[in-house]
Amino acid sequence: MGVAVMKTLVVYHSRSGTTRKVAAELARVLKADLEEIHAEKSYLGMFGYLRAGRDSLRGKLPEITPANHALAGYDLVVLAGPIWAGHASPVLRRYVRDHKAELKQIGVVLTHGGSSPKTAYAEIEGLAGRKAVAKTDILERSIRQNAFEMAVADFAGPIRFKEEAVF
Ligand SMILES: Cc1cc2nc3c(=O)[nH]c(=O)nc-3n(C[C@H](O)[C@H](O)[C@H](O)COP(=O)(O)O)c2cc1C
Repeated sequence: MGVAVMKTLVVYHSRSGTTRKVAAELARVLKADLEEIHAEKSYLGMFGYLRAGRDSLRGKLPEITPANHALAGYDLVVLAGPIWAGHASPVLRRYVRDHKAELKQIGVVLTHGGSSPKTAYAEIEGLAGRKAVAKTDILERSIRQNAFEMAVADFAGPIRFKEEAVF
């Protein structure tokens, strides 16, 4: 029995490295390529932090740097980023908006300090125009403590199952 491996790209935004850690683990587990997206104008520093919260709250989606990976050929794109002010990272939202037409199946992974991810999931799925085949949200604290492997495994489970179900 063969296993059809879905060609997967993990696209992530990370301001302070938390989501980056998760994205690297996702790429390892899913045997996926990695794409980090950045805002043209950095959100680092104190003023950046304030702008980050404001932009996220208002749905102001910033200019982003060009992506390194063309989406053609990827069966699944995992979209990962932080929750800012109760909403999905505006950098990630911008990517999804810009690439909507090229997205096939999507997964969504959100990191946060304890907020409900409900609004952020709906935003990403709304911009992508499709429901995620898998989603999970992970507490920043468990990422810092390296206690997030289970969450990644749970997320990857249904994707693996889909791959195996092909034959
Ligand atoms: C501007 C800003 C706003 C945030 N707002 C929220 C929030 O509303 N709820 C929450 O649980 N965490 C919030 N956080 C915490 C981040 O979601 C959390 O630290 C995340 O894991 C950071 O990921 P990163 O290191 O990949 O950027 C906020 C962080 C920033 C920088």
